[in-house]
Amino acid sequence: MHNLTPSAIELVDFYDDGEQARHFQFRLLDGVQSASSNVLADWQTAQIGQFFMLNVPGVGEAPFTFTQVPDAQGHFRALVRQMGAVTTALFGLQSGQILGARGPYGVGWPMTEISGKRILVVGGGCGLAPLVGVVDHLVEQQNYTQLTVVYGARSQQAKMLNPERERWQQYIPVFNMIENGDLNGDENEYHGRPIDMMPTVLDSFGELPDVVLLAGPQVMMFGMADYLVASGVYNHAIYLSIERRMHCGLGTCGHCYLKHKYVCTNGPTFRWDVLQPYLPEDH
Ligand SMILES: Cc1cc2nc3c(=O)[nH]c(=O)nc-3n(C[C@H](O)[C@H](O)[C@H](O)COP(=O)(O)OP(=O)(O)OC[C@H]3O[C@@H](n4cnc5c(N)ncnc54)[C@H](O)[C@@H]3O)c2cc1C
Ligand code: FES
Repeated sequence: MHNLTPSAIELVDFYDDGEQARHFQFRLLDGVQSASSNVLADWQTAQIGQFFMLNVPGVGEAPFTFTQVPDAQGHFRALVRQMGAVTTALFGLQSGQILGARGPYGVGWPMTEISGKRILVVGGGCGLAPLVGVVDHLVEQQNYTQLTVVYGARSQQAKMLNPERERWQQYIPVFNMIENGDLNGDENEYHGRPIDMMPTVLDSFGELPDVVLLAGPQVMMFGMADYLVASGVYNHAIYLSIERRMHCGLGTCGHCYLKHKYVCTNGPTFRWDVLQPYLPEDH
């Protein structure tokens, strides 16, 4: 029997991070307070790229990716964009308030397979969130031959995860692509979309990247995957994190169904060649 009861979490801290987006830090209370509970141990199995269901009491639940998976004290982080009822209620809460969470759920990024490789990471808008844990981990462990991040934002104001990208660019190339409006004068910032930078980025790899990780708006990810395959990158070397409407997160309600696959249990990360047969013709 699947457990749909949320664990108690505390909203520890938050800061605004781009247009209508906030980076939240939470702390698991269940399991930390009770020595007999294994809740904390369950949460500590969370893998980078997995997600959790956040429960705002009296309002509802929604899925979010970890930008930092739970640590030994049960602290974890997520970047949240304000969209509807759940996220608006979350934005109205203050530090110290108690809410709920279930998880961790889904399939994370293939961290073992990508270790030590030449890795290209491409994130669009809020879609960089599922990739934060990957880049942090690889940079901390210096576990790559080459690692390059390309980030796309609609405008200067819409950029998210600035502290993370500023930290990474001390160690690895980070290309920040701004679609509309002014640049901020930073040498890592360029006009255009991530795909416009691809010829330069692929050249910088010499040979093609061994692995590509994509997350962001679907049209960006699928367009990028097609471009990369046409450029010679194997389709089995490309991984994506996709979003569908979710209710249970456990493969029982069918809301996230995608032609014989549940995104909540078979994903949200998929290899491109595995995902393609399950997409509608007109994707
Ligand atoms: C696996 C997964 C991970 C996610 N990770 C993050 C994250 O890290 N940060 C973040 O900000 N958001 C994330 N999302 C999206 C987030 O779950 C939704 O924005 C959230 O459900 C909004 O809840 P709400 O009640 O505030 O708005 P709702 O009232 O549920 O939605 C507001 C609007 O957004 C649309 N919408 C909601 N969910 C989706 C969806 N999955 N796909 C397409 N349109 C949708 C609705 O149709 C509606 O128009 C993730 C979604 C999934 C499936
Ligand atoms: S969210 Fe219920 S089956 Fe996937």
